[in-house]
Amino acid sequence: MEVVIRPNADAAADLVAQIIARALRSNPRLVMGLATGNTMESVYARLVQLHRKEGLDFSACSTFNLDEYVGLPADHVNSYRHYMNHHLFAHVNIRLQNTHLPDGMAADLTAECANYERLITENGGIDLQLLGIGQNGHLGFNEPLSALRSRTRVKVLSPVTRAQNAPLFPSPDLVPQRAITMGVGTILDCRRCVLLATGEEKAAIVAKAVEGPITSMISATSLQLHAECTLILDAAAGSKLKESEYYHWVFGNLPMWEPFRTTPTLVAKNGFQPGHQPEKKPVEAVSDILE
Ligand code: GLP
Repeated sequence: MEVVIRPNADAAADLVAQIIARALRSNPRLVMGLATGNTMESVYARLVQLHRKEGLDFSACSTFNLDEYVGLPADHVNSYRHYMNHHLFAHVNIRLQNTHLPDGMAADLTAECANYERLITENGGIDLQLLGIGQNGHLGFNEPLSALRSRTRVKVLSPVTRAQNAPLFPSPDLVPQRAITMGVGTILDCRRCVLLATGEEKAAIVAKAVEGPITSMISATSLQLHAECTLILDAAAGSKLKESEYYHWVFGNLPMWEPFRTTPTLVAKNGFQPGHQPEKKPVEAVSDILE
């Protein structure tokens, strides 16, 4: 595991976007694992900018999202399919048939989970998995006691997670009780993981994930088992780490980070406005877009 601490949330999101853009340029057929949540919005906004201003090409890549709520149709404003269409897919030249999320409305949820695993395998596995972290340390919706070898399955959401996601719903009661999520084992099979966490409210759980013991109570600790995992933090999210001086030295000195240290931020290069959101196009029902 490597930890990179950037001075602020914009610089952290810039770095994640640059890592994705480089990976996509070197392999246009990249299989990306994608995440949702507030933190990811600024990454997707930057990818949209890179597509518009530098022609970053999504036409041959494919994507697999970590999770989807059970019981929300794709065109529901709170579904993760809607989130992805709204923040990324509708604004870049990705082929929607190459974008995958579990179907939370499937009649047979067990078969849907098995099918999702099969699709990932048929696509050659995930090259680069983008991750956020929940306030309880979950990856995707791998709630406490998720087995470290778990595969895509239905999980019951914990009260902490339902409370964290409640502000996005008209009422806390409307937060679904369950979700389909890639398992911890599914995530650990990805060739590279990049986790982004920003803000002081993530500092304590990030410290546990990075420097604490591996435990199924906190699925993010499982990333310590991954050979190609980078955590990118802003100063606030990294503020409770004991070894931050060492992490700063590694980013400042290791040759692999050289291009990322010298690449001007998107703000400087593209006139990107921090906090800018992509133009909001109305999102059609997925079935309409897929035609
Ligand atoms: C949800 C998603 C997670 C994500 C988390 C973080 O729970 N299922 O994959 O990591 O939100 O959200 P935020 O970035 O809003 O803190």
